[in-house]
Amino acid sequence: MAESKNGRYAHIVGWGKYVPNKVLTNDDLSRMVDTSDEWIVTRTGIRERRVAGPKDTTASMGLAAAKEALERAGVRPHEVDLIIVATATPEHVFPSTASLIQDALGAVKAGAFDLSAGCTGFMYALTMGNQAIRSGASEIILVIGAETLSRIMDWKDRATCVLFGDGAGAVVLRAGTLAAGGVLATLCRSDGSGGDLLMLPGGGSKFPASHQTLDQNLHTIKMNGREVFRFATRIMDKSAREVAAQAGIPIENVELIIPHQANLRIIQAAARALKLPDERFFVNLHRYGNTSSASIPIAICEAVEQGKLKPGDHCVMVGFGAGLTWGAALVKWGEPVPLHEPTRLERVYKRLLYIAAGVRSRLVRGLRRIETLLGGTPSPKPTRIDKDKQPKK
Ligand code: COA
Repeated sequence: MAESKNGRYAHIVGWGKYVPNKVLTNDDLSRMVDTSDEWIVTRTGIRERRVAGPKDTTASMGLAAAKEALERAGVRPHEVDLIIVATATPEHVFPSTASLIQDALGAVKAGAFDLSAGCTGFMYALTMGNQAIRSGASEIILVIGAETLSRIMDWKDRATCVLFGDGAGAVVLRAGTLAAGGVLATLCRSDGSGGDLLMLPGGGSKFPASHQTLDQNLHTIKMNGREVFRFATRIMDKSAREVAAQAGIPIENVELIIPHQANLRIIQAAARALKLPDERFFVNLHRYGNTSSASIPIAICEAVEQGKLKPGDHCVMVGFGAGLTWGAALVKWGEPVPLHEPTRLERVYKRLLYIAAGVRSRLVRGLRRIETLLGGTPSPKPTRIDKDKQPKK
């Protein structure tokens, strides 16, 4: 087993998800591009996906998932040490979506950052969270995967627009000992030579937004589907095996595998390569499509809801995506947190807590403005540089 040297383990003690209300079916898509329900289902297994409404953003969806996860964990926002948001579709390039969520939660002592590893983002974020807890640097960490892929989609490209969906999932990691389970092993890998196989070329520092990038449609997903498919089928079973070996758990003793929900054929190929029955793999991609960083945390929530992930189970999570990147974790699922129905008073208290976070944020912004008005922006006085101290030419 990948033992923790100081006996500290990260436990998943809370989980939550948010998916937008709007459902886009394959039939809906067949009215937008030259495709059919039959083609999409046989090639991918996807039947429908969710699409963000006008008020949904990566931060708003991540926030909703985070609140649910905190609620389940019985953790208050001010107890959180660190917030990591895995996303390929951040609210802005900066500030980070994680900082926006931190502010909206009122997680006043938390550090916050975004993590970019394509659809593997959640596995990378879980790994980082696990390591921060094992090292003793953090006690409670919020790990969020959130995506608004519909906003970077080329809705005229039938090869990509049928695959993706929007949504968010979150887990709360808490430090503990091994007895109740925990994250036993993780791995993160990358092969940047395949970067061009799945990318969003425009809007970064290489091709900053311009009329030209818009004309060339560089702000939408570009993908070589066949090559990504080949890569995914190669690494899924290998990384599941590798992380299980690292944890010292034979793969056939793993009760549930939660794979990245990209394509049913990729999952079935992994099942064959691992010689495991299809039922051992959790699948919900028929309802959501590929929600990138959000796919594994949403699947965790639904696996627990459906009783497919039970206390004491060993669960392998495995993701892959742009970069190219891939990652996996073996988690021993802990005892469920005794979830009591919150009393009316508790519900009111929680609502007040989030209202207070909003008020606090506005107050701090207002104070900052007043400070600037009254005192101006402090700037260092120009200092004279003595001629003889100047560097000689
Ligand atoms: N509807 C109908 N036809 C479509 C189509 C659609 N939505 N999308 C593509 N096609 C066409 C192609 O144009 C091609 O036509 P052609 O042979 O006349 O050129 C044909 O279908 C077959 O394309 P092909 O690429 O061989 O299909 P495929 O069996 O490989 O399936 C994918 C395509 C995209 C479903 C598959 O490659 C895949 O899932 N790749 C991985 C993508 C992925 O998971 N990305 C995210 C990773 S995180």
